[in-house]
Amino acid sequence: MTLSELKTYKNKGEKITCLTAYDASFAKLFDACGVDIILVGDSLGNVIQGGENTLDVSMNDMVYHTNAVVQGIDAALLISDMPYQSYSNAEQTLKNAQLLIQAGADMVKFEGGSEHEASFKILQNNNIPVCGHLGLQPQSVIEMGGYKVQGRDKDGAAKILKDAKLLESLGVAVLVLECVPAQLAKIVSESVSIPTIGIGAGVDCDGQVLVSYDMLGINTEHVPKFVKNFLTNSGSIKNAVNGFISAVKKQEFPSDQHSY
Ligand code: KIV
Repeated sequence: MTLSELKTYKNKGEKITCLTAYDASFAKLFDACGVDIILVGDSLGNVIQGGENTLDVSMNDMVYHTNAVVQGIDAALLISDMPYQSYSNAEQTLKNAQLLIQAGADMVKFEGGSEHEASFKILQNNNIPVCGHLGLQPQSVIEMGGYKVQGRDKDGAAKILKDAKLLESLGVAVLVLECVPAQLAKIVSESVSIPTIGIGAGVDCDGQVLVSYDMLGINTEHVPKFVKNFLTNSGSIKNAVNGFISAVKKQEFPSDQHSY
């Protein structure tokens, strides 16, 4: 999977699939099933390390798990998250992004908009592909007052749309939209030429991502509305992953039940 293929998917209206993985075995299985993008998410702070949030995840953790995941990948694009406080200024962002690329990532992802303009610019100038992340930003859970849907009010929605356009102008190649009303995600997706990947952002995003431990029903505490357990009645992890891919491609997931 290449960046230009992802853009072609968007232009053709073919939906993009993305799952998180943290080790080589899961990555290999997802890749063999044909998942387009594998994300080494800092959600590993929750599902691997058992933390309440993602704030304790370090660069060493991300490098370790990226090194593991890349061993399992043949075809999928590999995106790795930059953890909390690893992109506070441009120089730090470049240094840490380079570590993730050296570990095997094709692209790095970090949360936020205009406040990180210098970080986006330095990566653009150094040809490091970037995935943006707008809407609910789990690394800002304390400032945001919890895991809440973002962009429900006029000002919040306008800020997300403005940031999406800014990120596109700063060379961001893919944009994750987390927990925003489906209608807003549709407007954002139609307003930018880069693919949007939604999680709790409705069916009109250009693709969908889920935390693998959520879609396999491993996590049973505080399950967000947008999560669907694809393992139920599927018989195997492989069938569950194929079920996710098929439901996304056919635009059967997310339904209204899994959207805001
Ligand atoms: O860390 C992660 O798994 C993520 C997804 C929720 C998009 O950023």
